[in-house]
Amino acid sequence: MKNFVANKLDNMPVSIFSVISQLAFEHKAVNLGQGFPDFNGPEWIFDFAFEAMKEGKNQYAPSYGIHSLKQSIANYQKNYYGLNYNEEEIIVTAGATEALYDAFQAFINPGDQVILFEPYYDSYYSDILLAGGIPKVVTLKKPDFNFDYDELEKAISFKTKIIVLNNPHNPTGKVYSAEELKFIASIAIKHDLLVISDEVYEFLTYDDAIHIPFASIPGMKERTITISSCGKTFGFTGWKVGYALAQPEWIRAIHGIHQWTTFAVNTPGQHAMARAFMKLDEYIPQFRSLYQSKLDLVYNNLLNTKFIPHRPKGSYFIMVDIPNEFGNDRDAAIKLIKEYGVATIPPSVFYSKSFEGNSMLRVCFAKQDKTLIEGVNRLQKVK
Ligand SMILES: Cc1ncc(COP(=O)(O)O)c(C=O)c1O
Repeated sequence: MKNFVANKLDNMPVSIFSVISQLAFEHKAVNLGQGFPDFNGPEWIFDFAFEAMKEGKNQYAPSYGIHSLKQSIANYQKNYYGLNYNEEEIIVTAGATEALYDAFQAFINPGDQVILFEPYYDSYYSDILLAGGIPKVVTLKKPDFNFDYDELEKAISFKTKIIVLNNPHNPTGKVYSAEELKFIASIAIKHDLLVISDEVYEFLTYDDAIHIPFASIPGMKERTITISSCGKTFGFTGWKVGYALAQPEWIRAIHGIHQWTTFAVNTPGQHAMARAFMKLDEYIPQFRSLYQSKLDLVYNNLLNTKFIPHRPKGSYFIMVDIPNEFGNDRDAAIKLIKEYGVATIPPSVFYSKSFEGNSMLRVCFAKQDKTLIEGVNRLQKVK
C-alpha cells in the first residue's frame, strides 16, 4: 500500500504531554507535568450542568454558542475590563484550543508569517504550520522573560500578518507590562498586523501583578482576537468550553472553520458556564487565593531544592533551573520521573530559536496540596 497519510503530518511531533504522562504513569510518578487541576471545579457548576440536562438541553446548540453564555461573556468583559462586545463579536468553541486552530485556519494564507514569542504554547506552532503559515520567533529571555524590542522589530517583514500573544503566559508565568503591551500595539499599527491574544489565564495573577487584556490597549480592540477558556477559569478543562472575541467580520471568518469542525459546543456545558459567569464576583477572589496559596507552597519549598524557581506572576506554572549535573531538560525530566518519581515538563519543545529551554523544567501547581507536598518532598531528596 502507498502512504495514505497527508504530507502535512510529516514530522508532526507527538505532544510532549502524552510522552511525559505515559512515562509518569509507568513509574507511578507524582504528575506535576500536565497543565490542569487534579481536583474538581466548584460543585455548584455540576448542579448547573445537571439541571440543564434534566431540562432537556441536550441537543445541538446554536453554532455560534448559546445566547446566555455569549451574554455572560459580554457582561464580564464589560464589568472587569470595560470592554464592550455584542453577540456578533463572540463565538463559543470547543476549548481555547479550537478557537486557536480556527483563527489560524481563518486568517493565514500559505506563506504568511506569524510572530510567536517563545517559549510558546505548543499548539500555536503546529496550528500555524497546518494552516501553511511560517512562524517567526522572538525569545522571552531568562530571568524575567522579557523580550528585546529590537528582536521583535527585526522579526517583522512585509509577509508578517499576525502577532500571537499569550498573557498571562504559559509556561513562564510572565504577565506582560502595560509598557510592553503598548509597544506591541505600536508595532501592530505600524505594520498593520492582527493580534491573536490567548488570555486563558486571565484571572490567575499573583502578588501585585495585574492582567491587562490586549484589546483594552487604545486602538487594539478592532485588531485583536481574544481567546479564553471557561475550562481554565472554572477548573473544568475536560468540558472544553472556550471562546473567541473579535469584530463581527472576524468572528464570521472563525465560524467559517468552526462550522466544519465541531459546528457546535456541548450544550449542557454551555448552560452551566453561562450561569457560572453570573457568580464570577463571588468565585474569583476564592479562586485567586486558592492558587496564590498553591504558588506560595510550591515556590517556598522549591527554594530548598536544587531546582531554583523563577517566581511566576501569572498562570499556574513555575519554571525552575536545572542543576548542571542533570544535563539538559529532557534528560533531567526523564531522570526525575525514573529515579525520584516526579514528572515535570521539559520546555525545550516550546522553543525553536534559542536554547534557553534546555536549562529549565516546567512545574505545574494546579494540583491538590497533598500532591504538591509529595512532589516537592521528592524534589527535596535530589542531592
Ligand atoms: C496558553 C494556553 N492556551 C490554550 C490552552 C487550551 O485551553 P482549552 O483547554 O480551553 O482548550 C491552554 C491549556 O493548557 C493553554 O495553556
